[in-house]
Amino acid sequence: MTLTAARPKINETFRITPPALDIPERLLLGPGPSNSNPDVVAAMNRQPIGHLDPAYLDLMDEVQAMMRYVWQTENQMTLPISGTGSAAMEATLANTVEPGDVVLVGINGYFGNRLVDMAGRYRADVRSINKPWGQVFSLGELRAALEEHRPAILALVHAETSTGARQPLEGVGDLCREFDCLLLVDTVTSLGGIPIFLDEWKVDMAYSCSQKGLSCPPGSSPFTMSERALQKLDQRQTKVANWYLDISLLRNYWGKDRTYHHTAPVNMTYAIREALRLVTEEGLENSWERHQTTAEKLWEGLADLGLNCHVDKEYRLPTLTTVQVPEGVDAKAVTSKLLNDHNIEIGNGLGELGGKVWRIGLMGYNSRPENVDNVLVALGKVMAEL
Ligand SMILES: Cc1ncc(COP(=O)(O)O)c(C=O)c1O
Repeated sequence: MTLTAARPKINETFRITPPALDIPERLLLGPGPSNSNPDVVAAMNRQPIGHLDPAYLDLMDEVQAMMRYVWQTENQMTLPISGTGSAAMEATLANTVEPGDVVLVGINGYFGNRLVDMAGRYRADVRSINKPWGQVFSLGELRAALEEHRPAILALVHAETSTGARQPLEGVGDLCREFDCLLLVDTVTSLGGIPIFLDEWKVDMAYSCSQKGLSCPPGSSPFTMSERALQKLDQRQTKVANWYLDISLLRNYWGKDRTYHHTAPVNMTYAIREALRLVTEEGLENSWERHQTTAEKLWEGLADLGLNCHVDKEYRLPTLTTVQVPEGVDAKAVTSKLLNDHNIEIGNGLGELGGKVWRIGLMGYNSRPENVDNVLVALGKVMAEL
């Protein structure tokens, strides 16, 4: 019997052959992804090698070392999670939350709510402390919440992409030590763009993404865990309820043993290695300064257009600016026209701030003065036309 004789007939109506890939050239000045550095795209555009090849293992070491630099941490357990920022976010909770653990989340924007949702799925007893979107928590407010809830983990978002606010972290780690709890921080929109000193600030767990301050496509996400957090993982009574993100398994691949866990996204490792290499070449101080200078140019230009920023200057992120939509202006019509007529993407408001703000990102490779000029000219034109 031939194979074809026993086989069902191929249903050719399922067959579509689109034209060759044709991607519009966009300037991505929204909440992310940002445009990647062309050197990163070139690094990614190589043949994969085996994920246990000695040459690949060297790249892994380099990636881990450079991540420690950008985060300013000595944490041994620092590695990229295969997936986007949400996967790395989930890794922090999956590994340290045991059913019934009290997890206290600071909610002052959209991503605080995502942390609540995720922690609940790992059966944490989730509590929250809330602030209006665009404001940040003071040390006094955090102390009062720790006293009231006595959590095992306090989770805060360093840079809230939905509001454009920077949560100060100085002193928070000391507070957490005093209350014997772990400090978990979302650095998705801060890494590479604003000062972060994980060890100095006594942060126990952090995660980020590749597609913003690191100028890389999405898909390989920095993750780190302190010795204190590792102790909690090692003392678990229950298995980590997520096989893919279980650090007690992943550390055998990212540690000395190099035991197969899952096939590493090899080309994403090329990409994030190049992205991190470019940050180390520029130097953290220079990168932070560049982000601040470029953002200040944007803020001045927005004021000249008669537009106001949503967040007080003291807590305003240079990586992501929320701009108040003037009365009577259709926010979405403006973003659509910017994209369609000018190939510039900026973000609409998210959640509570939907329709009320635009979100302009100046992150990584895109944090340059010419991009500020381009978006301001286009925005002025679009608003006049509408
Ligand atoms: C603050 C913050 N946390 C988490 C995430 C989730 O990351 P991702 O969309 O890469 O999964 C984002 C995404 O923009 C974010 O801005």
